[in-house]
Amino acid sequence: KKRVVSGVQPTGLVHLGNYLGAIKNWVSLQDLYETLFFIVDLHAITLPYEAPQLSKATRSTAAIYLACGIDSSKASIFVQSHVRAHVELMWLLSSSTPIGWLNRMIQFKEKSRKAGDENVGVALLTYPVLMASDILLYQSDLVPVGEDQTQHLELTREIAERVNNLYGGRKWKKMGGRGGSLFKVPEALIPPAGARVMSLTDGLSKMSKSAPSDQSRINLLDPKDVIMNKIKRCKTDSFPGECENMNWGSFKTTLTDALIDHLQPIQVRYEEIMSDPGYLDGVLLEGSGKAAEIADITLNNFTFHSVAIKVN
Ligand code: TYM
Repeated sequence: KKRVVSGVQPTGLVHLGNYLGAIKNWVSLQDLYETLFFIVDLHAITLPYEAPQLSKATRSTAAIYLACGIDSSKASIFVQSHVRAHVELMWLLSSSTPIGWLNRMIQFKEKSRKAGDENVGVALLTYPVLMASDILLYQSDLVPVGEDQTQHLELTREIAERVNNLYGGRKWKKMGGRGGSLFKVPEALIPPAGARVMSLTDGLSKMSKSAPSDQSRINLLDPKDVIMNKIKRCKTDSFPGECENMNWGSFKTTLTDALIDHLQPIQVRYEEIMSDPGYLDGVLLEGSGKAAEIADITLNNFTFHSVAIKVN
């Protein structure tokens, strides 16, 4: 079976972009593939944060995965920091990743320009190497993400190829190693629709957790009246698309109704899950256990190939 991994950062609230670009598609993939879905808390600390807030958001994001239909009997659901191998592999990979490759990352350039060099931690630069590690640890075939992650996925592929070439293959075999490919080179899976959901207030930006105004996004947990209000006030495209025989008024009403109908059962399940912390803990514990088993195999193999001597 092919293996699929993906994750969401627990910064702020999960919004419609995260749902349509990523989480909704994971639900159908769990029936076809071996799937692992994580909450990337270690990625969320690359910008200033408050620990209690982060821990709340991590639990909430896990509950949202479940409420959206990720099934813990099919998929492994876990918190990134619970599987230590992610950070360890990241160190090894970062030694073989040129700084130039990271300096070119659009998200790094944007975020560091906003905050200024003195306010940005080193981890903001090395963030994509941690993401590569999240993916390569599981020898993943496919990574379902929104369009904004394509550059990070391309970098992951480049790192895998470089490291395979440096430490795997025939060259290593001659020196006594087992040779072969150390990491599978993964592919991004971008959905045909919903890969780039736009901001409600700015037609040029994507919907984002970090945008200052909550009016710019629809959060999965927004109550009915908030959704109605946000859509009433939001910008619309200047040319009609699929619903071309509707005027803006009836289009917005149809959209609002469809959205509320879709999100309401998710919100009900979310409340049920959050009211049973023991259940959520169990899911996360089981998930990280299964993930660590796979991750350790890759990490041990790569450590042996790239740095360690073997002792008997
Ligand atoms: P994050 O938390 O920013 O976003 C989570 C997922 O939602 C998608 N997304 C969107 N899709 C459509 N329209 C939008 N407006 C929109 N905004 C966000 C993202 O593309 C993503 O799929 N670095 C990643 C998290 C990550 C990860 C990984 C993903 C860390 N390690 C390994 C896959 C595999 C991030 O910050 O996503």
